[in-house]
Amino acid sequence: MTAATWRERAAGLFPGGVNSPVRAYRAVGGEPPILVRGKGAEVWDADGHRYLDYVGAFGPLLLGHAQPAVVAAIREAAEAGGSFGATGPGEVRLAELIRERMPSIERLRFVNSGTEAAMSALRVARAATGRELVIKFDGGYHGHADSLLVEAGSGAATLSIPGSAGVAAAVAAQTLVARYNDLSSIERLLAANEGKVAALIVEPVAANMGVVTPSPGFLEGLRRLTAASGTLLIFDEGSAPTVAGPTSSTLSPRLATSTRPGRSPATRS
Ligand SMILES: Cc1ncc(COP(=O)(O)O)c(C=O)c1O
Repeated sequence: MTAATWRERAAGLFPGGVNSPVRAYRAVGGEPPILVRGKGAEVWDADGHRYLDYVGAFGPLLLGHAQPAVVAAIREAAEAGGSFGATGPGEVRLAELIRERMPSIERLRFVNSGTEAAMSALRVARAATGRELVIKFDGGYHGHADSLLVEAGSGAATLSIPGSAGVAAAVAAQTLVARYNDLSSIERLLAANEGKVAALIVEPVAANMGVVTPSPGFLEGLRRLTAASGTLLIFDEGSAPTVAGPTSSTLSPRLATSTRPGRSPATRS
């Protein structure tokens, strides 16, 4: 079956024909690819075209597609009964490995999606600080939790507005929007909302803006400003390109989300 036929079938089933807003092409033009196979660094679409894969499933496939050791570990886990909905040795070994590689991490929670990770990090930050407001950057994407689907409003007041139909204005108003690579925009928001900002969430390398790297001193500045105002810094490394550098390890954010923890394969220890 051709890619066009699969796209047509998907369009009749999923909004926009995709299962994540970041896979939709409406905003940038083009058609979502229909990928059927991957091996190493390459993937093939339903029409037989071969591509070099720079996505790597947004991080987890660090070792490439169908890496034999990973396939063997998955097979072994499936044969051992698969998932149990209970704690098992695999997750304990994985968590120990992650903590060993990223010493800034004290405790972890494994979740099923980037949306859930970012949403949970915000809730922890609000609970820990007793504050309600959060700051995100214009162009930053952290999944589809209501409080993170917001856009900067017009005018100097920077009142945020819902970034999607269905997000309540009252929820959007709890999120302030700053400019990436502009520390003064953070300084202004923190000063205007002193003692009220629970968390600042940032993609350390802004992957969802077309891979914008932080200017020298930007992330260090965020660390300094948030520490001084009692705001928790959240690094959302959900889509950070693997060339980015181990930001969480070196800058010790208060909370971090990742799909490529410690740059280690998520297999057996
Ligand atoms: C930085 C970042 N955070 C969170 C998410 C949301 O992840 P998910 O689609 O697994 O909910 C994404 C998805 O692209 C992302 O790029």
